[in-house]
Amino acid sequence: MSLLLNRLAFGNPSNAGNVLNRDEAYQLLNDWVKNERLQLHMKQVAHLMKCWAAEKEGLPEADQWRWEMAGLLHDADWDQWPDQHCKKIIEELETRNSDPEIIRGIASHGPNHFGVIPETRMDKMLYAFDELSGLTHAYSLLRPQGYTGMELKGIKKRYNEKAFAANVNRDEIMEAMQMAGVELETIIQFIIEKQVAVK
Ligand SMILES: [Fe+2]
Repeated sequence: MSLLLNRLAFGNPSNAGNVLNRDEAYQLLNDWVKNERLQLHMKQVAHLMKCWAAEKEGLPEADQWRWEMAGLLHDADWDQWPDQHCKKIIEELETRNSDPEIIRGIASHGPNHFGVIPETRMDKMLYAFDELSGLTHAYSLLRPQGYTGMELKGIKKRYNEKAFAANVNRDEIMEAMQMAGVELETIIQFIIEKQVAVK
């Protein structure tokens, strides 16, 4: 099954800055994603994107929400239409005249699957957070105290064990880190600190 999008242009440039409001975005999430675990993953990535945009990129609130919205909806069609991931959500956001950068961010969150290379800071950080957020969460579920007291070295140990969260592709993580220009340790530490807040 190929998920290649076979296109490189997304949305309409005249829609730059157009976003769903928070209620609309959460409505779409709840309508499309019934799997609670997947919803949690999307909320976790959304929170990481917002925090990174604010703290590391120094972006204003309007841009923080654009980053957050990309994270919140990046897997929106995976639950119901896995063979059309992420075509369906791209088309939905195009129909709703959403910001092309948000749509492109979603389209490039799996370059080896969708055939779209991350270009902007938003694209690259979404790619980077996607897999590492999942790996960190899997580790939290193994620990009796969850995220409390979690340390970088614990995650790194698991990261190096191929059998742990085996579906998390380490080569893609390294590729994402290189594209983003961020050290693996930096991003894992960031996730440990921020992800605990998302329930
Ligand atoms: Fe994801």
